[in-house]
Amino acid sequence: MQKDENVILEDRQGEVLDSLPAQNNKATKKLYIESYGCQMNFSDSEVVASIMNKNGYATTRNIDDANVVLINTCSIRDNAEKRVRNRLTEFKKKKSDNPDMVVGILGCMAERLKKSLLEQEKLVDLVAGPDAYRDLPNLIDEVGTGQKAVNVLLSRDETYADISPVRLDKGGISAFVTIMRGCDNMCSFCVVPFTRGRERSRSPETIVNECHDLFQNGYREVTLLGQNVDSYRWNITNKGQIKNPDVPTVNFAQLLERVAQVSPDLRVRFSTSHPKDMTDDVLYAMAKYENLCNYIHLPVQSGNSDVLKRMNRGYSREWYLDRIKAIHKIIPDCAISTDIISGFCGETDFEHLETLSLMDEVKYDFAYMFKYSERPKTLAERKFEDDIPEDVKSKRLSEIIEKQLGFALKSNQSRIGKVEKVLVEGESKRSSEMLCGRTSRNSMVVFPRSNVKKGDYVLVKITDCTSATLMGEISK
Ligand code: SAH
Ligand code: SF4
Ligand code: F3S
Repeated sequence: MQKDENVILEDRQGEVLDSLPAQNNKATKKLYIESYGCQMNFSDSEVVASIMNKNGYATTRNIDDANVVLINTCSIRDNAEKRVRNRLTEFKKKKSDNPDMVVGILGCMAERLKKSLLEQEKLVDLVAGPDAYRDLPNLIDEVGTGQKAVNVLLSRDETYADISPVRLDKGGISAFVTIMRGCDNMCSFCVVPFTRGRERSRSPETIVNECHDLFQNGYREVTLLGQNVDSYRWNITNKGQIKNPDVPTVNFAQLLERVAQVSPDLRVRFSTSHPKDMTDDVLYAMAKYENLCNYIHLPVQSGNSDVLKRMNRGYSREWYLDRIKAIHKIIPDCAISTDIISGFCGETDFEHLETLSLMDEVKYDFAYMFKYSERPKTLAERKFEDDIPEDVKSKRLSEIIEKQLGFALKSNQSRIGKVEKVLVEGESKRSSEMLCGRTSRNSMVVFPRSNVKKGDYVLVKITDCTSATLMGEISK
């Protein structure tokens, strides 16, 4: 899923979610929550904050103030788990000074490791998987009575549809809205189907209402989240049958239109698209509404059809390139980003070269690039050997990164001289004299401060760039 920087080798660092004035004025206890992994996890932490707030907890940025410390975790690659383990060891030290503090693990690592972090490793007091967050207040009570507080049940229908998330980011302009949970795809390298369970979609009404409320509260951008948004469906079974003839069916293209209609001033993004499921209807919807942003994250993983088959991705190189062609035909000027894995099981030099040649054909605007990391229980772990030596994985990854940096720079250079519509997000990180915001194509633009505020749309003439950022000035 798309993240903040152009090139990401590691997972997003843990982020401490901000302290807010408590929604619930009776909140007397303090929650500290730290999140790792994909946007879905960050969005889930907002659901958790909401559930906890109703039960008397306000969030804090200061861990030493907290009665409850939660860490929302990721299992996607081994190094993501290592980082969490280090944090848990630090929390354990804090707990020796403050024995009443409850430490809990949430998210994908909680689901994958279940009781072991509590019973064998004794690193935490509480374990809650991604579908068990409504149970957190009970689990915390159980810790208080000295019981083992574990709930890792996965659900077929939990979507937290009725919970209105406590927005923990500071900006107040851009928000994540989860539209579906789980994944039914079983890509052979991927742990997500094991940690997140079966795919299920959230009702379109609750999604549209949430986007509407966000807009009313000053938000100007929503990102609709799912592991495979193209398979969003409401009132349709996974075999394509209508469940209830009295209720309209909704697919992803239709959902996008509904969200686009909330307001022309609400920008809409989404992640992640799947090449095997992305229909032309989605592209036509994007072309029809100016506020559906011209940006698609379409992970390819590999440029070679045999590798794609071993990965169980459900498409070939040719199919993927056909989807790219469709994007260019239907949405002129659409930015495209991707995810690439280097050194998957059995990857030959030729297969790696095919990834490089696919990159030459597509010329991605952004990419997230990773070394293959074998995950327990996945199809690849059971069927194939993780046989590419570490140094070969690294060498191939650096070739991929080098190529991508060239394309990212060219992509940005091609914008110089153009006037872009930018949604102002606030002050630039580097200088309080500068503001920053994104273009529809998701490029970050930095420009001198003037009489505009965050949440405004401004026209910026692009004058310069690096491979990561565009620079410009407000155009009169
Ligand atoms: N649902 C999204 C991606 C979810 S995970 C999709 O289908 O594309 C985000 C990215 O992490 C993946 O696209 C993949 O590139 C990478 N990834 C997943 N499992 C991995 C593994 N075992 N080793 C290395 N990278 C992995
Ligand atoms: Fe993992 Fe594949 Fe599902 Fe993405 S589509 S979450 S890569 S199994
Ligand atoms: Fe990580 Fe789970 Fe997301 S494994 S990438 S936090 S779905």
